[in-house]
Amino acid sequence: MKHNKLGPVLSIANQKGGVGKTTTSINLAASLATLDKRVLVLDLDPQGNTTSGLGVDKDKVEVGMYDVLSKEATLEEAMLETECEGLFLVPATMDLSGAEVELVNEDDRENVLLAGFESYEGEAFDYVIIDCPPALNMLTINALTASDRVMITLQTEFYAMEGLSQLIDTIRRVKANLNADLEMEGILLTMVDRRNNLAIQVENDVREYFGLQVYECVIPRNIRLSEAPSYGVPVMYHDFKSAGAQAYLKVAQEMIQRELAAA
Ligand SMILES: Nc1ncnc2c1ncn2[C@@H]1O[C@H](COP(=O)(O)OP(=O)(O)OP(=O)(O)O)[C@@H](O)[C@H]1O
Ligand SMILES: [Mg+2]
Repeated sequence: MKHNKLGPVLSIANQKGGVGKTTTSINLAASLATLDKRVLVLDLDPQGNTTSGLGVDKDKVEVGMYDVLSKEATLEEAMLETECEGLFLVPATMDLSGAEVELVNEDDRENVLLAGFESYEGEAFDYVIIDCPPALNMLTINALTASDRVMITLQTEFYAMEGLSQLIDTIRRVKANLNADLEMEGILLTMVDRRNNLAIQVENDVREYFGLQVYECVIPRNIRLSEAPSYGVPVMYHDFKSAGAQAYLKVAQEMIQRELAAA
């Protein structure tokens, strides 16, 4: 593990928009917290959907990821406790979009987030989850450089694999040049509709190509998952019995099992 003081760090990434990164960050984190883990979520997307999805108004919070990246605040200072027990958040604020531009002009610009992690002095977390923006930009590079593992979310649709080779290439380059510890956590299939033949075909293709890297559990298309953010809560607080809530709980369990198997 890179960060003994902070805890193991998992980035949720795909430069493609709308493939379930944020939904996964929120609900995987909440599922792990439900399993009595202490979890921190970092909203590294200027859109701030993880922040609002966890019930925090990004226009009202004053300190967030931008301040951590510009070294104006420590992680601890930027951290909020959410309504969900054991779940903490460093929010995105409006100014995070400026951080991308500012980072590009910095020395050691790929390691800024890592430096923020290394100076952490608080209580450790069982999991730290980073919601990445839909771009292979300096924010995403910082996330990958500071992570132990990266999970790719893939929407099961016709163009699912489009752009994937570019993403995997970026992960390889970060591993080769910036972060030798970076490992693939796996690929999570999202918005799966197994009544749709094309979706079944896409799932089969992805499993054939990536084998065991693909999570056995999949996230079904489920209306409760898209409703929950408007209530500012993870799906299990909105409808615990819903297929979406149960699927994310299973993913959390599969993640823990994969760790045990690898240890
Ligand atoms: N399993 C699902 N079932 C139904 N709706 C879903 C599901 N997963 C995500 N959605 C909805 O699809 C949209 C995109 O999901 P999400 O915001 O998680 O993707 P993203 O990859 O974070 O997007 P972006 O790239 O813009 O950050 C959202 O409106 C979300 O509520
Ligand atoms: Mg998102």
